[in-house]
Amino acid sequence: MSALFTPFTLKDVTLKNRIAVPPMCQYSATDGVSNDWHQVHYATLARGGASLVIVEATAVSPEGRITPGCLGIWNDAQAAELAKIAKSIKAAGAVPGIQIGHAGRKASANLPWEGDDHIAEGDPRGWATIAPSAVAFGKHLPKVPKEMTKADIQRVMADFVAAAKRARDAGFEWLELHFAHGYLAQSFFSVHSNTRTDEYGGDFAGRSRFLIETFDAVNAVWPKNLPITARFGVIEYDGRDEETLSESIELTRILREKGLDLLNVSVGFSTWEAQIPWGAGFLAPVSRRVRKEAGLPVASSWGVASADVAERCISEEDMDLVMIGRAMLANPHYPYALAKELGVENPSWVLPAPYAHWLERYSIS
Ligand code: NDP
Ligand code: FNR
Repeated sequence: MSALFTPFTLKDVTLKNRIAVPPMCQYSATDGVSNDWHQVHYATLARGGASLVIVEATAVSPEGRITPGCLGIWNDAQAAELAKIAKSIKAAGAVPGIQIGHAGRKASANLPWEGDDHIAEGDPRGWATIAPSAVAFGKHLPKVPKEMTKADIQRVMADFVAAAKRARDAGFEWLELHFAHGYLAQSFFSVHSNTRTDEYGGDFAGRSRFLIETFDAVNAVWPKNLPITARFGVIEYDGRDEETLSESIELTRILREKGLDLLNVSVGFSTWEAQIPWGAGFLAPVSRRVRKEAGLPVASSWGVASADVAERCISEEDMDLVMIGRAMLANPHYPYALAKELGVENPSWVLPAPYAHWLERYSIS
């Protein structure tokens, strides 16, 4: 019996297995609006047998996009197209999720395959960036952001709320707040990017305030019967890891008490000087600790795609869900391959009937 292919229930949502597709930017939108690329991409991933497909980082405001090609959910036209994606993910047998976020000081960048660096000053494709403090990320992202005023903070929180309402009305059943990867929320939490001296900076309580208030505001409008989750970089690998991890676990505990249903455990990516120990399942011990000490279900990714690592992450309770990214880009039917490798009975039925019936019945060769 494979642990990976057991169901998982959170509130009114039951996932048919423990394989989720994490958000992965496609950088293929125009004015934040999705198109045929996204429609086909997400429906294909959902047909492949994952139980949950989370739509990529979707910006709550225009300046919150990472690149000009990123999705947005700040207007009704964007939401109308996203509703079609939610519908097709669901029709293909997976739960439709969405990640909403704001890129902060990492915004206004070129597409990854066009440099991944900040758009040059004076180039009309770029825009002014905002962050907790006027501190640039550095290296390929040298642009100095404007320090947010309290009015800016209130406005961005209102943008998160409006985005969550649109996501709810568009039919998404799983919400992930992007509190990770050096983007706006993570940069409020990180000492690498937050040098504020007011109540939104300084000590643990100050650096946590933006994340807690944003969570509270969104939670107030998100349906009580559907999961509300966050992706958060709980560790930076910057030499002060025990302190960051302890603070991150404490913040996760606070958010859990306020209603957070699951944490997608990730890396902070707040400094380019981090020494990340890339390798198969390197975050598994970290997510295990968050799960145990913060006392809530967790998901995680980064090299958990192989059958043995994915199965072990679930059976040994390092995480409740594995998030499999690039392996799904390489082969959207990857869960079928996992099921065969793990000896799941009738693995073809990980796929929808129009595929499964024929794979079950006749040998392909
Ligand atoms: P970068 O993509 O610039 O990566 C930061 C450093 O980590 C680089 O040295 C890079 O190596 C290395 N690295 C990144 N991913 C891997 C990997 N899988 N295996 C080995 N080394 C890796 O950082 P970003 O801050 O832009 O993104 C952080 C991570 O989040 C990346 O892994 C990226 O794939 C992912 N991501 C997140 C997005 C989001 O949250 N919206 C959007 C796009 C990507 P090198 O210099 O050799 O590339
Ligand atoms: C990502 N990742 C990512 N993370 C996130 O929180 N929001 C996002 O929109 C994106 N976008 C994105 C685009 C692309 C092309 C890649 C490859 C990655 C990170 C992603 O969710 C995942 O954590 C990593 O890819 C690691 O998992 P795998 O690929 O090792 O299974």
